[in-house]
Amino acid sequence: MDTYYINGEFVDDEDARIPVKDIIVLRGFGVFDFLVTYNKRPFCLKEHVNRFENSAKEIGLKFLHTTEKICNIVQETIDRNPHHDESNIRMVYTGGVSPDGVTPQGNGVLMVMVTPKFRLPDEWYTDGASIITADIERFIPTAKSINYLSAVVALQKAHKTGAVEAVYVDRNQRVLEGTTTNIFGIKGATIITPPDNILPGVTRGVVLKLIPKDLTLEMRHMKLTEFLEMDEIFITASNKEIVPVIKVNDTTIASGRAGEKTKQIMAFFKAYTTDFGWK
Ligand SMILES: Cc1ncc(COP(=O)(O)O)c(C=O)c1O
Repeated sequence: MDTYYINGEFVDDEDARIPVKDIIVLRGFGVFDFLVTYNKRPFCLKEHVNRFENSAKEIGLKFLHTTEKICNIVQETIDRNPHHDESNIRMVYTGGVSPDGVTPQGNGVLMVMVTPKFRLPDEWYTDGASIITADIERFIPTAKSINYLSAVVALQKAHKTGAVEAVYVDRNQRVLEGTTTNIFGIKGATIITPPDNILPGVTRGVVLKLIPKDLTLEMRHMKLTEFLEMDEIFITASNKEIVPVIKVNDTTIASGRAGEKTKQIMAFFKAYTTDFGWK
């Protein structure tokens, strides 16, 4: 049994409840954030809490807690689940109960759920993975809103074809990000990642600090036609780390193998997370 934090209390996961009249249930109005532990410590906690607060601000949801308080609650929830080796942490802030069922009243509920971290298939990392594209534009893409309708719909299509992720392509044919990942393309000695109209991924932020010196960073948009011509593509996320992409829809990327430069960045990321909390 795991222990969750809900609105000032620590409860067994099976006893965790929120009112059905909360507008997170009625309207999908609320925000969340997700992080993992390395060495039993929450990875980039401050960055995730800051993004959580920003998501709330972006959708007009008033936060009642300070950054420090939320960080402390996350740490205490991890401490109350000592049976986990490593953990996944989900923070949720609800819209709260509203008399008219639509207008936020500033009475949101903060939840922190800590569950065991799971491993994704090794082949994704050694052989690379396939992704598909989805012609969808997220509403307020800089916010991690609880409403992930576009993600759930697009991912179902991806999974049907054996793909691990769907990446959003906007009306201007720009490839923006995945349903729960950010994207990078490498062409020659240039590494490219979209600058805006995306969720600013914390993993993406770490990768940006670890780019090998022989690669030049370009923060700019890529059209789908250019994306398909990349030498290497990879996706990043807290729960996936860095996954090399070898196929987009029916197009094989370059040789169809996990790229060497991607593998180098994966090695740097591995070293960074292995050291996390120790140095
Ligand atoms: C839309 C979207 N983009 C990117 C990401 C990756 O963000 P992070 O690296 O912080 O997990 C996520 C995470 O779930 C996401 O939902």
